[in-house]
Amino acid sequence: MYNKEDKILIIGAGGQIGIELTQELSVHYGSSNVIAADIKPIPALELNPFEKLDILDKDALLNVVKKHQISHVYLLAALLSATGEQNPMFAWKLNMEGLFNVLDLAKEKHISKVYWPSSIAVFGPTTPKINTPQYTIMEPSTVYGISKQAGERWCEWYFNKFKVDVRSLRYPGLIGWKSAPGGGTTDYAVHIFHEAIKHKKYECFLSADTALPMMHMEDAIRATVEIMHVPSDQIKIRGSYNLAGISFTPSEIAEEIRKHIPDFQISYNPDFRQGIADSWPKSISEDAARNDWGWSAKYNLSSLVQNMLENLA
Ligand code: NAD
Ligand code: SER
Repeated sequence: MYNKEDKILIIGAGGQIGIELTQELSVHYGSSNVIAADIKPIPALELNPFEKLDILDKDALLNVVKKHQISHVYLLAALLSATGEQNPMFAWKLNMEGLFNVLDLAKEKHISKVYWPSSIAVFGPTTPKINTPQYTIMEPSTVYGISKQAGERWCEWYFNKFKVDVRSLRYPGLIGWKSAPGGGTTDYAVHIFHEAIKHKKYECFLSADTALPMMHMEDAIRATVEIMHVPSDQIKIRGSYNLAGISFTPSEIAEEIRKHIPDFQISYNPDFRQGIADSWPKSISEDAARNDWGWSAKYNLSSLVQNMLENLA
């Protein structure tokens, strides 16, 4: 499954997903074969070769790929939903041009495989909100969501036109204890644990009953590694696969935290991220991922909360 000849480049390796994905792939390929690239230094990844790289610099990207004889690229550099709304034109530029730079490398046969994540943000206010299907109405209302939806279509186009082996997952909000989130609407579900442990209280920027799909980072990393290692003919969707994760509201996760920290208190002060959250699904169907490549998540809300509190404590 893991060919030790493969050389991996992770772009945006210093982010919430990148740190954990780099560590996991290093277990399978060896640290020296997993190159961590980011626009800023990554103190947490001292075992991996590091390249300071701006994904918008196509020549620099090609140089790194040639220097390390890279075969697989995981492209994680992006602006997320909340920061994207605050800097919309730059979000569009980074999220789209970064993707084109990597897809073109694959089209020109410098690399053989690409991973690029999409998001539940591809859905919008007109999408059915419960058990959202793989194929449905998609009218995203954030720049981030628009860039992800366009990115999905471009991935499929590069596969159809040039046989670029690109694979993608629509992650729900991701929750892990090893790294900090980078500016999304679902970030509250990470902050809440840190504040519960430190101060036994948390002011949430979403309202009490805002249900969103979320996933433990361990499940998300495993899904990423799995989809990148199944035979190409099992990947029927070259846009992006829905992942369901676990759906809960801020008040439900607070209730679960209270089982471990009985005097934990939560208050609510919704800001502009409430509008983003309200436009997204409450729960997702992942039938396609289950049927095509056998996906199954491990965590439920209770085990996620227990795992987060144990590790952060
Ligand atoms: P993050 O913001 O934590 O990390 C992004 C990393 O990219 C940062 O380390 C940043 O320094 C780096 N970066 C920014 N601009 C760069 C540039 N020009 N060149 C090189 N590196 C640059 O993001 P994340 O949460 O790890 O998300 C990674 C990917 O997964 C994104 O595409 C995001 O849309 C997607 N995703 C994340 C979530 C989630 O909940 N975290 C959910 C759905 C999809
Ligand atoms: N977690 C991400 C965000 O909130 C979803 O893509 O932006």
